[in-house]
Amino acid sequence: MMRTTLGGLLLALAVAATAPAGDPAAGERVFSARCAFCHSATAGRNGTGPSLFGVVGRKAGQAPDYRYSDANRTADVTFDAATLEKYLTSPRAVIPGTKKSFSGLKSAAQRDDVIAYLATLH
Ligand code: HEC
Repeated sequence: MMRTTLGGLLLALAVAATAPAGDPAAGERVFSARCAFCHSATAGRNGTGPSLFGVVGRKAGQAPDYRYSDANRTADVTFDAATLEKYLTSPRAVIPGTKKSFSGLKSAAQRDDVIAYLATLH
């Protein structure tokens, strides 16, 4: 009995280590709580921040009809998962001079989840 439980635990750990990092459903909740005040997930609907539809894999500053800061518009940054991980930790560290006032998500799990959610917006 003990053996089975331990084996199951080790298997769960192994799966967790190899599966994609984030959970998109949890990420949608993080988005609603922490991002949606300024960002929509709908193409073309900009607010204080640009729509984040299609942002994963795209160069910075490309949302149509959004007035970016010069820093964000001209940043030589492509938002792949690794770059988003850094950007969401500290937007200013990746795009110095951004007008975005949001200071970042401290929780690595929340960052992974929200990135997994953003990746569904295509
Ligand atoms: C207080 C408002 C605010 C909050 C909250 C906020 N952002 Fe932003 N975000 C902005 C603004 C404004 C910009 C544009 C910055 C600029 O032009 O310098 C931006 C830009 C971005 C960009 C770059 C987009 C591009 O096309 O270059 C990404 C990615 C992003 N935000 C993701 C997020 C995520 C994910 C969250 C939640 C974890 C979040 N933001 C929370 C205001 C916010």
